[in-house]
Amino acid sequence: MSALFFITLSIFSSLVPLGFANNVHASNPCRSYCGNITIDYPFALQYGCGHPGFRDLLFCMNDVLMFHISSGSYRVLEIDYAYQSVTLHEPHLSTCDTLVLGRKGNGFAVEQWRSPYFNPTADNVFMLIGCSAQSSLFQGFPGKHLPCRNVSGMGCEEYYGCQAWSLAGRGQMGSMFGSGPPECCAVAFEAIKAINLSKLGCEGYSSAYSLAPLRVDGPSEWSYGIRVKYSVQGNEEFCRACEATGGTCGYGSDGIRQLCMCGNMNSTSNCDSATSATSRRRGQGLVTLTGTHFSFIINVFFFNIFINVKGSHGA
Ligand SMILES: *[C@@H]1O[C@H](CO)[C@@H](O)[C@H](O)[C@H]1NC(C)=O
Ligand SMILES: *[C@@H]1O[C@H](CO)[C@@H](O)[C@H](O)[C@H]1NC(C)=O
Ligand SMILES: *[C@@H]1O[C@H](CO)[C@@H](O)[C@H](O)[C@H]1NC(C)=O
Ligand SMILES: *[C@@H]1O[C@H](CO)[C@@H](O)[C@H](O)[C@H]1NC(C)=O
Repeated sequence: MSALFFITLSIFSSLVPLGFANNVHASNPCRSYCGNITIDYPFALQYGCGHPGFRDLLFCMNDVLMFHISSGSYRVLEIDYAYQSVTLHEPHLSTCDTLVLGRKGNGFAVEQWRSPYFNPTADNVFMLIGCSAQSSLFQGFPGKHLPCRNVSGMGCEEYYGCQAWSLAGRGQMGSMFGSGPPECCAVAFEAIKAINLSKLGCEGYSSAYSLAPLRVDGPSEWSYGIRVKYSVQGNEEFCRACEATGGTCGYGSDGIRQLCMCGNMNSTSNCDSATSATSRRRGQGLVTLTGTHFSFIINVFFFNIFINVKGSHGA
């Protein structure tokens, strides 16, 4: 009798999450989490979800979200959907505590097809360290102007004050006042379009960003990392219309064309477009109804057996 009760209970409890999971799946099959970071449009972890410009970009490993582009892999610290930015970090990025030399750092460069979608923010400073005198950065030096400058109030003059420099035993004073190129050159991404350490002939790099309008005191207070602005290139309408009609934005197997996923079918516009709307509603209703009915029938069935067994015992 009690065994039967547990069978009933276990069947019932195994059916409830099934129905629940189905409903969640229908509402948004693409949204997910990695650690405590929400992954939503235009980003996605699965192929076919999100915007095609963001495909094969994010990977979740042991709750650590990784961002993969041609210059390398970065850890994602944050995705800010309101300001459309991502904050990245990597172990070979120099900070105020350590200089990482030996050309180990990723820098920052994206594939050409992806470049319209990503740009380090205008208030992100890249500080290139130990670049050779032959570097394209210093072409024409000392006659011409160097591209090196402060970005958003952050630059090498202040960065030299970090303990990392004395720890690394780099005497920057000579370079600052000598005739050679400086030990550190700060640039905005816009000035050179790709931070490629081997191409630029640099030993290392640092990157910091300011969260305007917050003014911080010195380089030990700067936020180290790469802040990247993302954009779907004025193509917001498609996804907005799709989501407004209860769909989820994705793209087709060609990896180019955007799709609106509407429950049981995909639409090339949105879920209210003629044919998709009816089949979606009918389909969804059917699934929910079947699930509920099924669990109800099973439970009535077992409950009846349960009552019968109990009854026969009592008699
Ligand atoms: C996520 O977790 C990390 C540490 O585990 C924490 O530093 C960070 O602030 C968290 N982010 C959010 C958005 O909660
Ligand atoms: C809809 O598109 C997604 C993403 O390309 C795909 O995974 C899914 O199988 C498609 N569904 C249908 C019903 O074609
Ligand atoms: C960086 O520059 C080197 C040498 O010019 C080149 O071989 C490499 O492909 C570049 N890396 C990226 C990510 O563009
Ligand atoms: C950058 O800022 C520092 C500190 O505010 C200042 O001393 C330095 O002259 C500035 N450098 C340039 C190139 O403007």
